[in-house]
Amino acid sequence: MSSQNRAPQRVIHVGVGVFGKRWCSDFLRSNVVDGTIQVVALVDRNPENLKAGQTALGLRDDQCFTDAAQAFKAVKADFCTVATTPAHHEEVIDAAIAAGLDILCEKPIADTMAATLRIAEKVKAAGRKMAVTMSHRYDQDKTTLRRVVKSGQLGKINAIGMRFQGDMRQHMAWSSLFRHEMEHPLLIEGSIHHMDILADLAGDKCESVYATTWRPSYAAYKGDTDAVVVLGFANGVKVVYEGTCAHSTGLNTFYKEYIRVDGEHGTAILTHRTVELFMRQDIWRQQHREGQGQKIDLLVQPKWINNWLIERFAQWRAGGAPLETEVANNVQTSAIIFAAIESQRTGVPVQLAPFIAAVGR
Ligand SMILES: NC(=O)c1ccc[n+]([C@@H]2O[C@H](COP(=O)([O-])OP(=O)(O)OC[C@H]3O[C@@H](n4cnc5c(N)ncnc54)[C@H](O)[C@@H]3O)[C@@H](O)[C@H]2O)c1
Repeated sequence: MSSQNRAPQRVIHVGVGVFGKRWCSDFLRSNVVDGTIQVVALVDRNPENLKAGQTALGLRDDQCFTDAAQAFKAVKADFCTVATTPAHHEEVIDAAIAAGLDILCEKPIADTMAATLRIAEKVKAAGRKMAVTMSHRYDQDKTTLRRVVKSGQLGKINAIGMRFQGDMRQHMAWSSLFRHEMEHPLLIEGSIHHMDILADLAGDKCESVYATTWRPSYAAYKGDTDAVVVLGFANGVKVVYEGTCAHSTGLNTFYKEYIRVDGEHGTAILTHRTVELFMRQDIWRQQHREGQGQKIDLLVQPKWINNWLIERFAQWRAGGAPLETEVANNVQTSAIIFAAIESQRTGVPVQLAPFIAAVGR
């Protein structure tokens, strides 16, 4: 899978916070080890975080910067990877475009719909490649479920249900401070992955979004930690999503979410990284029971989530297929989230295409 006979592509990584540290110790490293990339510079405003990344990647002092634009000017690279907070993606992307770099950026594209559209437009105008790391869609369990759904064996997909119940209710339990201080932590930081997975499984453009969001009194957040979202897709698929990052017991937390895909001929269920299948039989009034379906073996390959996405991005840059999450497409996923916020504000369903058009005007 790796680019064996090619020179490693040169990467500048920006952002070494909680998740950025994992980029350094795991995602980037695995791709350095197999020769896909070479990390030529590292950036973080915070010198302590920068030092941690430097150690993890074994970089020299002259490869470490506190300013992205300076790093992009000083060190020759092919693309940058961005793991700053969502409100600080755009400034790094602007500097990358000015330096002629392609961009692999953490989700969400930005913290507002207007900034999301601006970024997509600037990338297009500059003719650069940019993709977004929707890590969870590229995890082993979701990829296995997607294979079952896309095989067609369930027949026409009718409805999809998804449940995310994480217990990060105490202050700082969701790793970084910004999530506890923002207005919609669940939707913008968590459900963005889930909407991306749901839209992929639905297999068409999302047309309408209805959402209600709230914060229970016991959740140590400023913004809303809970949501119910209903989506309608152009091909008729309907989706119901329930999410919370302040659950009492963490029944379906990140990497262990529940997804049920109902088709004309059968149902596929993913929960706690196990996929099972139920097929309709030629009998009167079927009754099946979760946990007693046909277990599907998880797909096996060397890399998943961001490890795989870095490799795929390098392959795209080398002439391979674009990522499904290239920025022009991923705008749709962000739009579902910001339309959900708009629906909560107005109390009515939001039609996605007019919503995007109105923000973009
Ligand atoms: N894909 C996933 O599963 C996943 C999981 C967690 C976080 N994330 C994403 O990763 C990103 C970072 O999240 P986090 O939890 O690590 O945040 P964080 O607050 O812990 O870290 C952000 C880091 O970026 C640095 N920074 C901010 N602006 C900068 C700038 N202009 N130049 C240089 N450095 C800058 C900060 O100093 C900090 O070290 C977010 O977009 C988040 O949504 C994705």
